[in-house]
Amino acid sequence: MSIPVFDLTRQYAFLREAMDEAIRRVIESGQFVLGREVEALEEEVAAFCGASHAVGVASGTDALHLALLALGVGPGDEVLVPAFTFIATAEVVIYCGAMPVFVDVDPQAYALDPGAAAAAVTSRTKAIIPVHLFGHPAPMEAISALAARHGLAVIEDAAQAFGARSQGRVVGSLGDVGCFSFFPTKNLGAYGDGGMVVTDDAALAELVRQLRVHGASERYLHRVVGYNSRLDTLQAAVLRVKLPHLEGWNDARRRHAAAYTAGLEKVSGVVCPTEAPGSHHVYHQYTIGAARRDDLKRHLADQGIGAAIHYPVSLPAQEAFAGGGLHGKGLPGKRSGSPRGVEPSHVPGAHGRGS
Ligand SMILES: Cc1ncc(COP(=O)(O)O)c(C=O)c1O
Repeated sequence: MSIPVFDLTRQYAFLREAMDEAIRRVIESGQFVLGREVEALEEEVAAFCGASHAVGVASGTDALHLALLALGVGPGDEVLVPAFTFIATAEVVIYCGAMPVFVDVDPQAYALDPGAAAAAVTSRTKAIIPVHLFGHPAPMEAISALAARHGLAVIEDAAQAFGARSQGRVVGSLGDVGCFSFFPTKNLGAYGDGGMVVTDDAALAELVRQLRVHGASERYLHRVVGYNSRLDTLQAAVLRVKLPHLEGWNDARRRHAAAYTAGLEKVSGVVCPTEAPGSHHVYHQYTIGAARRDDLKRHLADQGIGAAIHYPVSLPAQEAFAGGGLHGKGLPGKRSGSPRGVEPSHVPGAHGRGS
């Protein structure tokens, strides 16, 4: 028997009837761009998160990008991002013409370290992007307090953490704006790309709504230069079938994680994930530290068990940022110059899409 890292076919087999019906409903409606399915999903996600507004966009990357633009992040600004996350968290800062400032993460939950973030604040710092990496909530109380002290906007990157909670509140609803990804392998995944912005700020939600349709406030009336970044209608219908099952699926992930930890916690050279007090981890990934990582991965592969390295290289050490003028307060990989292949726009919203 082999156990792949992901097997999305089993979930489809479980949902087949409802899924086929939802997809047929969209095709028969002839409404393929925005429309009722997207609006209904937005209402359902807003209700799930306890947020006033949700806006469906084309991907998690675009959710972060449009949220930053709507918050007015632009040239001359610095944005604090964890040094250890998926590259999209930092790329979007560069799309806006601003500079990501890499902040170290704590070695247990791999979340942005509030102490290191405080040390990285300068007069140019405009925003901070905590990432709920692998489904574990970042320490939002400390991050929100830091943001309040320095007047920073908080953009939660909740791409890997749909349904995770901190102090009983769903992540994505804890900062000024929360951003989700519906990439197929995410814990709430579509059958293609998709993303969502959630916020309590009506003006911010409206601006994201405009930015996702070429900056239009009404048809063919463009207030700002925007993008084509709509959540696909078929994907909205797919996600509406899955959303009611999410809590149960997250509970199953938690049970499986507990079983892995029970089996692994006494193994020397292995560090199991833990849950910080007041946190509800949804284990988008069950991620261990392993002293003999590559040997372990080979051994698992020999047994037919899939495993992946998340992530092999930290962001400041990535080639894309080589010469980026990106300062990370002493983080390895710190260099100076311009990010490779990137010419940040000086017109907010006018830079070409990067996702
Ligand atoms: C932490 C994090 N942020 C952002 C993204 C970007 O999401 P998407 O792939 O939907 O653009 C991802 C997805 O892989 C992610 O893991």
